[in-house]
Amino acid sequence: MTEKKVSIIFNDDEGDKYVFEGQEINLENVFGTVKDIENALKEKGYSTSIIGLKSVQKNSLDEFIKKIKSASDGIIFNLCEGALGKSSFEAHITGLLELYGLKFTGSGPLTLGMSLDKGLTKDILSSREIMTPEYCVLNAPPSKLKRTLKFPLIVKPLKEDASLGIDSGAVVNTMKELKKRVEYIIEKFVQPAIVEEYIDGREFNIAVMGNGKTKKALPPSEIVFVDFPEDKPKICCYEAKWVEESPLYHKTKPECPANIPEGFRDELQAVALRAYEIMGCRDYARVDVRVGEDGNIKVLEVNPNPDISPDAGFARAGKAIGLDYSDLISEIVSIAEQRYCLETR
Ligand SMILES: Nc1ncnc2c1ncn2[C@@H]1O[C@H](COP(=O)(O)OP(=O)(O)O)[C@@H](O)[C@H]1O
Ligand SMILES: [Mg+2]
Repeated sequence: MTEKKVSIIFNDDEGDKYVFEGQEINLENVFGTVKDIENALKEKGYSTSIIGLKSVQKNSLDEFIKKIKSASDGIIFNLCEGALGKSSFEAHITGLLELYGLKFTGSGPLTLGMSLDKGLTKDILSSREIMTPEYCVLNAPPSKLKRTLKFPLIVKPLKEDASLGIDSGAVVNTMKELKKRVEYIIEKFVQPAIVEEYIDGREFNIAVMGNGKTKKALPPSEIVFVDFPEDKPKICCYEAKWVEESPLYHKTKPECPANIPEGFRDELQAVALRAYEIMGCRDYARVDVRVGEDGNIKVLEVNPNPDISPDAGFARAGKAIGLDYSDLISEIVSIAEQRYCLETR
């Protein structure tokens, strides 16, 4: 029997640099995850290759295209989160794969493009009866606010992820703070700011896997805020997510399965499945929600290309249903393979 082939594609760039307490810290890049996925697939008998896309090198895109074209006899595990230094090109990479007739894991260009725009995602979800926090999109600091928006509010870049631009200053309580923060986001990220009702409630991530009738939501994971400083808003800011040196990193603890009643778990899973379906997600994705004071589940965002590293929420949710890391990764590949099989029938 010939070995099945998987090519893992990723952004071959240095990790982000972050200034913490005056010190520049180098954060890890995605290469560790690439190796973990490679090992997981090898364990399951796949043959693997790794194809990186560099942002800075001249001709990097030409080289990348040459290599992906040679991967046409297998499936591509897509870990690209952008291209040429732009997160908005995340969708374009999958467009390229589709144009070359290549098979790949995860969502396609339309879903990736729509989901990156948090405002558009919320417009689509709310028009289909999924609740999301009240919001507005601003291209300039506002002189007054929509009547439905009440302080405290949270200000985020419209089209980023990984908590870029989200620190304790993102939650604002006055018009003055709001104007300043909107200005900061527009200038720093060269894009509009999205201003949302700040939901000071429990936060859950729900991983979803599969397609059509066989898709399923995994056990919800709760982000538990442990001994969080009183003077800081309880949010998964950039430092809490990525900067191990920061005390906030150790004060947001994912708990999976979340300690919640079955009925509520079912509700969270139903919302996540619906949001996944509405956004046209494929194979696997993660839905982030918060619960309002009124008990309503409000979707913050849909992540059609979620962090799939062994220590991230998705892998934890897999473990909660008995899938170890290699089971989870090979399951994602099988789900994608089955989808292509059905498409060509
Ligand atoms: N409306 C909101 N109310 C309360 N917290 C929020 C809200 N929006 C975002 N957050 C906090 O900020 C984090 C990152 O926001 P999110 O919209 O998920 O963007 P990202 O794409 O950067 O993950 C969330 O995990 C949550 O802790
Ligand atoms: Mg998020």
